[in-house]
Amino acid sequence: MNREDFEILKTGIIYFDNGATTLKPKPVVDAIVDYYTNYTANAHRGDYDNSLKVDEKYEAVREKVKMLLHCEKSSEVVFTSGATDSLNRIVFGFMKYYLKPGDEVLLTKAEHASNVLPWLELEKEIGIVVKYIPLTSTNEVSMDNVRSSITNRTKVISIAHITNVLGDVRPIAEIGKLCKEKGILFVVDAAQSVPHRKVDVQEANIDFLAFSAHKMLGPTGVGVLYGRYELLNQLHPTVLGGGMNATFTSDGDFTWKSLPSRLEAGTPNIAGVIGLGAAIDYLLSIGMDTIQKYEADLRHYLLTELQKIPNVVLYNEKIASSNIAFNLKDVFSQDTALYLNHYHICVRAGNHCAKMLKDELHVNNTCRISLYFYNTKEEVDTLVRVLKNSEDIFRVIL
Ligand code: ALA
Repeated sequence: MNREDFEILKTGIIYFDNGATTLKPKPVVDAIVDYYTNYTANAHRGDYDNSLKVDEKYEAVREKVKMLLHCEKSSEVVFTSGATDSLNRIVFGFMKYYLKPGDEVLLTKAEHASNVLPWLELEKEIGIVVKYIPLTSTNEVSMDNVRSSITNRTKVISIAHITNVLGDVRPIAEIGKLCKEKGILFVVDAAQSVPHRKVDVQEANIDFLAFSAHKMLGPTGVGVLYGRYELLNQLHPTVLGGGMNATFTSDGDFTWKSLPSRLEAGTPNIAGVIGLGAAIDYLLSIGMDTIQKYEADLRHYLLTELQKIPNVVLYNEKIASSNIAFNLKDVFSQDTALYLNHYHICVRAGNHCAKMLKDELHVNNTCRISLYFYNTKEEVDTLVRVLKNSEDIFRVIL
């Protein structure tokens, strides 16, 4: 689908590392080059044509994100440097002031480091208690396990919508509903879901959400922090500077601007935000439902083919998103990745920044194939052929 827009595919690579970052289509690259070539100016600071054009383009992207996530207001959208930055701001700008010693935060052991380490740090700083919702035998989150993990001290549930290794899809609408009933705040790491399917923050009762542009065709270094207005409005700026203050005086008085400027100190990543806007346009022109269906079909095809290879061990056959985690029997995952690289096939190997998942999966490292809509059955056939011939793996990589 739309492969001609991805210049890099002409080099002959087979790119199956979309969970790490996606390729960038020409309209996204063009939008960034256009800003740098034709109307470079700062945002929210100038009164001349190019500056006003930048403001218009920049704020138009906020509207696009509002539409993408179905937010109530565009001021609920803050541009950050990525999902990691967004999650850190939620924890250190809001939760640090909202939570009290002994309050419980529920995560899972399948979370990415970005949704674990800030909480563990806050646990040390202010004495909250981090707990983990047990996963099912297929390493998924069940509503039963969510319900039984909640105590009267539970104040927050913070989980990925789709996990980055196994790609399991969490029932966020049900969890959000439960959180609302119980007065628990619901934080969603949507880095692996917003690029692949519709996400509706109101429908799922999400209080805070984070994602990155670069996993959805956009540039690196830019992402989004969504927060329900009443909560986001209480989030303390963790970065102070120009653009976010209304006044300050030499005797130490200062006032902040209203949302969203208050949380966007300094010159923003203007080119990045414009690139994100082009990425959203691109995805919506295909349609998120079309993307989700295409990936599901391709994953099914890939899985069926991999199941036929005797020395392939699969770790997430049951899940319904676009990742496949596997190993070749008795082969270290990074050796498999190097072997595939020999055939210009790009996959990620290792623990994928989800270092606690090994407690549940009982394996330290895996190879991850993460698909996107520009991958094809022909690419899958090549991968499968190469894996079938992997008896010569060590001759190839040594
Ligand atoms: N979080 C990214 C991944 O899963 C880098 O690969």
